[in-house]
Amino acid sequence: MNQEQIIIFDTTLRDGEQCPGATLNVDEKLLIAKQLARLGVDVIEAGFAYASPGDFEAIKKVAEAVGTENGPVICSLARAIKNDIKAAAESLKPAAKGRIHTFISTSDIHLEYQLKKTRAEVLDIAGEMVAYAKSFMDDVEFSTMDATRTEPEYLYQVLTRAIAAGATTINIPDTVGYTTPTEFGELIKGIKENVSNIDKAIISVHGHNDIGLGVANFLEAVKNGARQLECAINGIGERAGNTALEEVVMALHVRRQYFNPFVGRSAQSEAPLTNIDTRQIYKTSRLVSNLTGMLVQPNKAIVGANAFAHESGIHQDGILKNKLTYEIMDAESIGLTDNQIVLGKHSGRNAFRSRLKELGFDLPEDELNKAFLKFKDLADKKKEISDWDLEAIANDEIQASPEMFRVELVQVSCGDRSTPTATVTLRTPEGKELTDAAIGTGPVDAVYKAINRVINVPNELIEFSVQSVTAGIDAIGEVTIRLRYEGRVFSGHAANTDIIVASAQAYVNALNRLYGSLKQEKRSQMAQEV
Ligand code: KIV
Ligand code: ZN
Repeated sequence: MNQEQIIIFDTTLRDGEQCPGATLNVDEKLLIAKQLARLGVDVIEAGFAYASPGDFEAIKKVAEAVGTENGPVICSLARAIKNDIKAAAESLKPAAKGRIHTFISTSDIHLEYQLKKTRAEVLDIAGEMVAYAKSFMDDVEFSTMDATRTEPEYLYQVLTRAIAAGATTINIPDTVGYTTPTEFGELIKGIKENVSNIDKAIISVHGHNDIGLGVANFLEAVKNGARQLECAINGIGERAGNTALEEVVMALHVRRQYFNPFVGRSAQSEAPLTNIDTRQIYKTSRLVSNLTGMLVQPNKAIVGANAFAHESGIHQDGILKNKLTYEIMDAESIGLTDNQIVLGKHSGRNAFRSRLKELGFDLPEDELNKAFLKFKDLADKKKEISDWDLEAIANDEIQASPEMFRVELVQVSCGDRSTPTATVTLRTPEGKELTDAAIGTGPVDAVYKAINRVINVPNELIEFSVQSVTAGIDAIGEVTIRLRYEGRVFSGHAANTDIIVASAQAYVNALNRLYGSLKQEKRSQMAQEV
């Protein structure tokens, strides 16, 4: 195994999707997986096969479409339980290169309260379940959950047993985001020195960001021997999220001369430390944010809206004289300036289709037709259509399917001397058109109240945001919303030059996700109410 290269393992579709409201449908997962392949990740953890039929199906589809000979390894998560491992193996059948990732907790607190098992029992399970996974495929990853709160001597024993049973990667998760950089580095060093068969496996790390140390912990792990990093786009994931892929990759890229010697290279080597095509980072970040409804904070490292903006006069002066005065990396290096003006009013369907294809959207005929109508509509309002506009249109179409409720009409009257009033028409899943009207405190409130009169699902709106896709008064507005229903969070996203229409569509998108998650009997109750 090449100890000079850092393997990037992306868990956006598994751990990333575990954050509230980030649920993705199969088509959305597929779209993200294709983009992750373009980004150049080495491994895609596509889901937890035993968790639900939807997860199983999504892994299979990703394995089919992206798990090609030259594509990334496709990984499926499984508890150290036979049925889980069997499901993981089954879900990976279409992949040219598959990996089963099995895990069990090893900290005393998890053993006592969660697993109710002794250390000896867990040690045996680890060995047996890795051997069982190995009976399905060669590439087996084993994780010791809550490793950073596990007694190191016991951790070494479990890891030795797992490698002896055939684990090719051993993963050290900081499950609760508890460790600190020096401590984590020492743990990895301890593993290298005390696990007798460690030369037969790659050391991987998995981190959570509860005290904001995810990236720092990983960099220290690399210095001490970790060669696989498990991370998620935009750092999404459980609680405070996973270690952000774009941050750790760019840290290794920008400071490669510092890190080179730790992986056995000369400091001056210009060879990249990872296989990531950094120019795909911004696009991947936007796609994940749009589809999960998880907004990126403006000051977020690498992909935040302000990450390359210089506000103070002194900084601007320096940048004009020489970029290097205040910039450690180019916006181009993450693909931020790849926003070409590509199409206009006179562009035809073929040009539209082929540009979408180049951007990675291979829409089925019906979705393409609808997207093309939206494009024409936009081209009437806006002279030049950029790649980002096209992405917004295509994402919208993908999110709208599988179609349940659809917005057919939105009409609003508002102003400083009138009561905001909205009329909406929605098409139901059965194809009926229903119209209702309401007044509200503002135009969006009125629209949402009118929609609530049609789709009667009491919910709480917990987040509403509007952002523009490009600059200019004619820019497309993107609306992202999150709502809570019976303790669960659902997100919705939509783009339109009219932000009131986008607001209605985003709300209906979220309601569709909510509706899709309901059991059949509850859905029919809702339908009757409708
Ligand atoms: O955080 C964690 O421990 C995990 C494991 C399943 C790897 O996500
Ligand atoms: Zn995790």
